[in-house]
Amino acid sequence: MYTTQDEQQLYARAKSLIEQKEVTNPEETIQELRDVVNYCDWKYYVQNEPVLSDYEYDVVYKKLKHLEDQYPELVTADSPTQRVAMGLSERFPTVSHLVPMLSLDNTYNADDLRDWDKRCKDFVNGEAIEYCVEPKYDGASVSLVYEDGKLVRGATRGDGVMGEEVTINIKQIRSIPLSAAFEKSGIGQVEIRGEVVIHKEVFAEYNRQRTAEGLSPLANPRNAASGTLRILDPKEVSKRKLSAVLYHISYYTLKSGGKVPDTLHTHYDSLNWLYQLGFPTPVKEMKRFNNINHVIAFCEAFEQRRDDLPYEVDGLVIKVNNFDMQDRMGMTAHHPRWAVAYKFKARQATSKLLRVEFQVGRTGSVTPVAKIEPVPIGGVTVTSISLFNEDVVREKDLHIGDTVLVERAGDVIPYIVKPLTELRNGTEEDIVFPTKCPVCGEPLEKPEEEAVWRCINISCPAQVVERIIHFASKDAMDIRNLGAANVLKFYELGLLKDIPGIYNINWDAIRKLEGFGEKSVTNLQSAIDNSKKQPLNRVIYGLGIRHVGETMAKTLASAVNHIRDLYDWDEEKLVSLQDVGPKVAASVAHFFHTKENRHMIDLLDEYGVNLANTQKAAPATGELAGKTFLFTGTLSHFKRSDAEAMVEARGGSILGGVSSKLNYLVVGEDAGSKLEKAKKLGTVAILTEQEFLELIGD
Ligand code: IVH
Repeated sequence: MYTTQDEQQLYARAKSLIEQKEVTNPEETIQELRDVVNYCDWKYYVQNEPVLSDYEYDVVYKKLKHLEDQYPELVTADSPTQRVAMGLSERFPTVSHLVPMLSLDNTYNADDLRDWDKRCKDFVNGEAIEYCVEPKYDGASVSLVYEDGKLVRGATRGDGVMGEEVTINIKQIRSIPLSAAFEKSGIGQVEIRGEVVIHKEVFAEYNRQRTAEGLSPLANPRNAASGTLRILDPKEVSKRKLSAVLYHISYYTLKSGGKVPDTLHTHYDSLNWLYQLGFPTPVKEMKRFNNINHVIAFCEAFEQRRDDLPYEVDGLVIKVNNFDMQDRMGMTAHHPRWAVAYKFKARQATSKLLRVEFQVGRTGSVTPVAKIEPVPIGGVTVTSISLFNEDVVREKDLHIGDTVLVERAGDVIPYIVKPLTELRNGTEEDIVFPTKCPVCGEPLEKPEEEAVWRCINISCPAQVVERIIHFASKDAMDIRNLGAANVLKFYELGLLKDIPGIYNINWDAIRKLEGFGEKSVTNLQSAIDNSKKQPLNRVIYGLGIRHVGETMAKTLASAVNHIRDLYDWDEEKLVSLQDVGPKVAASVAHFFHTKENRHMIDLLDEYGVNLANTQKAAPATGELAGKTFLFTGTLSHFKRSDAEAMVEARGGSILGGVSSKLNYLVVGEDAGSKLEKAKKLGTVAILTEQEFLELIGD
């Protein structure tokens, strides 16, 4: 898509746009900014090689957004800013596909493949056939239609003939170009097929969050991808970080006088061409062969490496490479004759559900864990499977003694698909949920709207130990050698009682323990010492505040100078931060308003743990430096975003809510609760729009 020279130019342009202060030709600058954002998106989402830091990218993106806000007449549907969805759609309309979306015939072994090869050869009267092999992605299949180079429609497979039009959600997938230079090849309309997938890591993180919130996890990345495409709120879709792989051009029209481009004679060339145009296609993975035995050898070797890919693959697809030949072979009612799937061995097995244990987590949640007869699946022996919560157990109708179907998809944690009820013999027993905490014996509670039972005794040993383990863990304070086993040992011996205790360990007592020679003690001491310098976001994440994952911890840390600043933040102010919803806000506010937690923070401070945001940008300069503003009500003299930009350009900052930190509240018509609150506080200067303009001298 881009030559090295293009790349160098775009990079240089990105850097100069970041620096650029004044815009003389908005139309030209908007186009330059779009080129740069499209290029950065392609590097990041298609090539996995980011060229700008997140911060730099943000600057470029915001400049584009800002200019487009100023010149709405210059906004086009394929501008990268138009991926961002505003409203909710009611439901998705149904559309017919330009060409029916067929499925593939399956093969499972070398013999099946040889049979298929023979059928293909018979069809083309023994002509030599070149095959192209690529992964079979396990996601949700989609059809994308481009007209005159612009993405005009994205649809789910549906029943193959009709699908749901989910263009708005497709636009949230950053690897899918909103426009591409098809016209250069004389193409008018084109339909591209592909698979929307969720990276295994993203999926695992999503499920971690769901379970932390007491929701049952999604079964596999495939369900997650297809479910996400049909969510009615595109903003939520955007958060789920879907990816796409495109693997088939199913239809195209030529502009008048156009001739079939050279790149559209074989499948292999067509995917390379799409890649050149900026599309995510499997160019790195696909291979060509002239002989079915080589195809078979490749398939068998690939199956061994299936886990190396960042997303799930459930097989390979073998396609006749030449399009003329494909056309001659045609299709049956169900599938093309020129392609076949080679399915990998299912990573499922059956086992017996022996008993259910109940584990108490860091937040007191009591999780049922199935202990099953050990069974090997995809190279690991599975003995324990989380059942997440009571609802999952009831929905699946699980009983002790059931024969259960277990699946382990790639790196995804194993899960029980279902019990094989037909194999029951009447001796199966109900799974009984405890009413008291299995560790401390206190009664369990089940908060309304939650699926998990919780032990609410915050001194429950299980919770305390889990909290310390979490604080010391790799993604939090990263204290090596203070893993689960050592935390538990120290806790049981009374040598470690809580999080601050990590920094006040009685080393003489530790030295007396078996296995703690001078070397391991010194290592542990220096790991603990080093952790005192960790950035604030890690501390906040480590505190284990409910609903605060790593990203949220970064958001919170970057909003303050010191952790104690959060003591003054109420829920209203918290929700003004990006991606902070009412649930997170309530949990954070509650955490920092709790006496015991403040005491813990004091102790960490005393022991020298860094609690300041050392990564905060240098203080702003300008006539409004240090002044805070908030706009409320309907503004008629200027757009809110413009006014906010004016404040920021003069060194001021924008707050999300009314608090004692607010200096100016600018009120438009129908100002409501914010105005009331500011009046009540009495410390906030209340300005009309006119007064605001006078203040900034505009
Ligand atoms: S080609 C007309 N290629 O597998 C042929 N399909 O089980 C169109 N799939 O419905 C399909 N990876 O959703 C093709 N590399 C790949 C694929 C692939 C996954 C899906 C596709 C299809 C299903 C059939």
